[in-house]
Amino acid sequence: MTFVTDDIKYAGVNDHQVDLFEGQYKVPLGMAYNSYVILDEKIAVMDTVDIHFSEEWLANLAAILDGKKPDYLVIQHMEPDHSGSIARFLEVYPETAVVSNAKAFSMMDQFMDMPENVEKVTVVNGGELALGRHTLTFVFAPMVHWPEVMVTYDASEKVLFSADAFGTFGANDTENPDGWDNEAARYFIGIVGKYGVQVQGLLKKAAALDIQTICPLHGPVLKEEIGHAVELYDKWSSYQPELHRVTIAYTSVYGHTKDAALLLAEKLQEKGEDVKVFDLARDDQAEAVASAFRGDRLVLATTTYNGDIFPFMRSFIEHLTERNFQNRTVAMIENGTWASTAKRIMTGMLENSKNLTFTEHNVTIRSAMKEAEKAEIAALAEELC
Ligand code: FEO
Repeated sequence: MTFVTDDIKYAGVNDHQVDLFEGQYKVPLGMAYNSYVILDEKIAVMDTVDIHFSEEWLANLAAILDGKKPDYLVIQHMEPDHSGSIARFLEVYPETAVVSNAKAFSMMDQFMDMPENVEKVTVVNGGELALGRHTLTFVFAPMVHWPEVMVTYDASEKVLFSADAFGTFGANDTENPDGWDNEAARYFIGIVGKYGVQVQGLLKKAAALDIQTICPLHGPVLKEEIGHAVELYDKWSSYQPELHRVTIAYTSVYGHTKDAALLLAEKLQEKGEDVKVFDLARDDQAEAVASAFRGDRLVLATTTYNGDIFPFMRSFIEHLTERNFQNRTVAMIENGTWASTAKRIMTGMLENSKNLTFTEHNVTIRSAMKEAEKAEIAALAEELC
């Protein structure tokens, strides 16, 4: 049994079976679905877990409850990675009242057949639930990451139950050798990145609270790391670069565009730059997207293909624009044996992105690099520095 505080216990589970989280994200370190129990005169369970882990979670609850019955099940977010075990919970604890907001209850009815006799406690924004020593305050956080999301503040122990916010990829029983930042960035930018404005709103509300512990629905409980995590969330959600880094994202059919991308990387590294290179057909697309958002400069290198651009590059740019890519410097390398259109198409795809600075030097290769194009790559490297 893990203690978060004297009265709050961790009841979550680790998932090492999931192949793709939310159907698209690789999670080599697994995934955690967090749930917590607040032990007081009244007992509250905070959220459930993915349906594949219902029994393991119920066993965790039983160990914590030690024969007691929970009074409340609080549902902060209805996405199935957290709501998937509500039905099973109510089979075991039919007398527990479910506490959530009107939007979430509406979604509950869409996802499952709620037992007719279940007690529902509908809370409003700013509403409270008294447990004894603890009083929970519910703060609505729409679109962080779905419209029904709310977070919960416990003033007595200065704990914020933050729903998806401050979550990360990775199971809690697996140490991440890269620390919290990389997988938290890949998680935030991939899943919540579109909703920067709403996250900024939540950060403003959180700034007014004294928070000593953050209990997210994924990843580790945060205590001394809170300041660092909030600082990163502020940068990511305001679309400001976090790192002085060049991300080079390329696609290559026969290796010539790859040669150009790698030559540019070499030139930049010779100048001491932090450079990350991604082959969009083979590397993790979510990692490439996260790197583009974390860094301040992005190079797109691709071929003209069927009068368009190579499909993996089209998909990559769409991932950027749907997450409001902005405030960055962008350079392009295009390759085409005849009728090159890649630069024009990529520029068009980015035309609604705010505050992008396009480099003066862009490189056009007509099949394989010759000396002239190598010189252009060197000039682009100079400009990017
Ligand atoms: Fe972890 Fe939006 O669910």
